[in-house]
Amino acid sequence: MESPSVPAHRGCVPWQGLLLAASILTLWSLPTTAQLTIESVPPNAAEGKDVLLRVHNLPGNLMVCIWYKGEKIDSNLRIASYTAHTQAVTLGPAYSQRETMYPNGSLLFQKVTLQDTGYYTLVALDKDAESIQVTGQLRVYQPVGKPALQASNATVTEHKDALVLTCLTNDRGISIRWLFKNQILPHKHRMKLSQDNNILTIDPVRREDTGSFQCEVFNPISSSKSDPLKLDVQYDPTLPSPGLSVGAMAGIVVGVLAGVALVAALAYFLYVRKTGGYDGLPSCSASSMADDHPGRGKGTSPLSLGLDLLLLLLKSLLLSTDS
Ligand SMILES: *[C@@H]1O[C@H](CO)[C@@H](O)[C@H](O)[C@H]1NC(C)=O
Ligand SMILES: *[C@@H]1O[C@H](CO)[C@@H](O)[C@H](O)[C@H]1NC(C)=O
Repeated sequence: MESPSVPAHRGCVPWQGLLLAASILTLWSLPTTAQLTIESVPPNAAEGKDVLLRVHNLPGNLMVCIWYKGEKIDSNLRIASYTAHTQAVTLGPAYSQRETMYPNGSLLFQKVTLQDTGYYTLVALDKDAESIQVTGQLRVYQPVGKPALQASNATVTEHKDALVLTCLTNDRGISIRWLFKNQILPHKHRMKLSQDNNILTIDPVRREDTGSFQCEVFNPISSSKSDPLKLDVQYDPTLPSPGLSVGAMAGIVVGVLAGVALVAALAYFLYVRKTGGYDGLPSCSASSMADDHPGRGKGTSPLSLGLDLLLLLLKSLLLSTDS
């Protein structure tokens, strides 16, 4: 009874839903397509270059539009205005000789300086005396200078020393990244970076840290690398590299495992030969395999003893590799 109504119901809802969605979309798209916006071209400018604050969707029945420096309307900070019926541009008190205002509202800055960085507000007034206001942003950057890299000590000893690398720069508003052998330094938990990334601490150093370090400073328009600093890590070659220790430990574990298994098998073989019993093997080995507790079952067979020893050894070895 219910099932025949389901397809009809299903077919109906998406149709109404679509209609609703379409009307919502229409309502939404109307104001957004006509929205007055400002776009900085380019979005981030190098000092000395030209930047256009491009105006999109100026009202068609424009009467006047006015540019202000800052986020508010302040007549003291008026840069320029354009009056449509006279097609004339009037300059304001904040005009700096480097701006050009076009009839389409866009404002060109020539040879931008760091001081030009900031917000700019446009007010457009149409013939119905309705005003719209929009604020845009101008970002000016200086090309970054070459940073210098300083090490606490260019020669360090494995396990013993910590290394502190400092990236020295006079630039502001920059980001810093670290390079090792010309690649982005892979982060390890022995490494710590200061809050603004300019100090790298490696504690402790390992032989695998031998190589050239560089720091790179960058901003949206430029980047610069320090000279490479070659780090020399001294180490005792008779000690295994800590980087290989997991592999070495795995080797030891496998070796011990094989050894103990051999001894246990031998002991069991001897035990079986001595007692003459053979039918105990499947049940005995199965129970001792599943058994974690040494004293369980009928006495301690050499096999279960061997297995327990093996487990103990494995556990202690695994614990020692963790630290
Ligand atoms: C406005 O005019 C300037 C100068 O002719 C031009 O560079 C700019 O692209 C124009 N802006 C728009 C949004 O068309
Ligand atoms: C640099 O490391 C070497 C070798 O470990 C040590 O002899 C020397 O005192 C260290 N120098 C400084 C300034 O820490």
